[in-house]
Amino acid sequence: MKTLNVALPGRAYDIVIGSGLLKECGERIRAVTKAETIAVVTDSNVAPLYLQQVENSLKAAGFAVFDVVFPAGEQSKNIKTLNMLYERFADRGLTRGDCVVALGGGVTGDLAGFAAATMFRGVDLIQIPTTLLAQVDSSVGGKTAIDLPQGKNLVGAFYQPKLVLADTDCFRTLSARILCDGMAEVIKYGMIADAALFALLENLEGLEKLQPHWEEIICTCCDIKRAVVAEDERDTGRRGILNFGHTLGHAYEMAYHYETYTHGEGVAAGMVKMLELEEKLGRDVAAVRERLCTLLQKFDLPLEIPCSMEDYRAAVGLDKKAKGRKISIIEVEHIGQAEIVSMEKETLFALLEEGDKE
Ligand code: GLY
Repeated sequence: MKTLNVALPGRAYDIVIGSGLLKECGERIRAVTKAETIAVVTDSNVAPLYLQQVENSLKAAGFAVFDVVFPAGEQSKNIKTLNMLYERFADRGLTRGDCVVALGGGVTGDLAGFAAATMFRGVDLIQIPTTLLAQVDSSVGGKTAIDLPQGKNLVGAFYQPKLVLADTDCFRTLSARILCDGMAEVIKYGMIADAALFALLENLEGLEKLQPHWEEIICTCCDIKRAVVAEDERDTGRRGILNFGHTLGHAYEMAYHYETYTHGEGVAAGMVKMLELEEKLGRDVAAVRERLCTLLQKFDLPLEIPCSMEDYRAAVGLDKKAKGRKISIIEVEHIGQAEIVSMEKETLFALLEEGDKE
């Protein structure tokens, strides 16, 4: 079991990582909230697997508990489901002193997190992420959001949880594709901040050899994110490095209506494309690109996703890192080191177009 602390003044919280956390979540949550009632928000995939176990533990710790289950999938991360959550909270008598537990993957964490941030102008929130991607990224750092028809995560709030419980036993029920989806973010952490993590992954044979390393890997990723968030909670500077590969990754996800490629698959191809663009700018990153591609292939992640200039332009237009005519892009010249560079959007489009014609 490992514990990290996100050191934000007045809003510090722990991330606990290890095996068996679901069945002891009640006592751990009791230690961080004065709530009497807990609303557990989860989706139709996770409910049959873990809801009972979590509710039993919460009841044993003395909480009154009710649950809200919504249909699994990104299509649920919208204003309609959010409204359903608000109404269920109100119908079941949740009060301002109570608490919401988000039990599930990234969609659940973002949606339940935004509901907790806005219900009564904020009730306590606990994140219990059940996917690798949610454990290493979305459950940590306080970003909550819903999607609009125009794009992902366009409405949201920064709202830090009181506690994150990352139970590595949950991976037993994840498909290889969903684990690899999370591995793209793990590889991203190696690329932007930790050459030793990158090398550890290079030295492993593949997904099936990861089991003894989960705790260490998740802890390393959360430690990087924790430090970045403590420095730049509101994402106005250094936090941007966490978005390496994401601007182009979002274009790939969006171009295929979020149906064909997972987030991690988009990010994988986005990181490779970014390095290609860096090469066009004269940086010597051929060896870095080759190492990245070899590692991504080990986890069945795509190196390239076809995308039109129209789709690139649409995604960049919605990018939250864009300011006027400029966009921040993340460059990696050496594994483990990332830089944020401001670029004219038109320069980025010209580089992408150049790539298209080759
Ligand atoms: N997922 C990027 C961030 O939390 O800033």
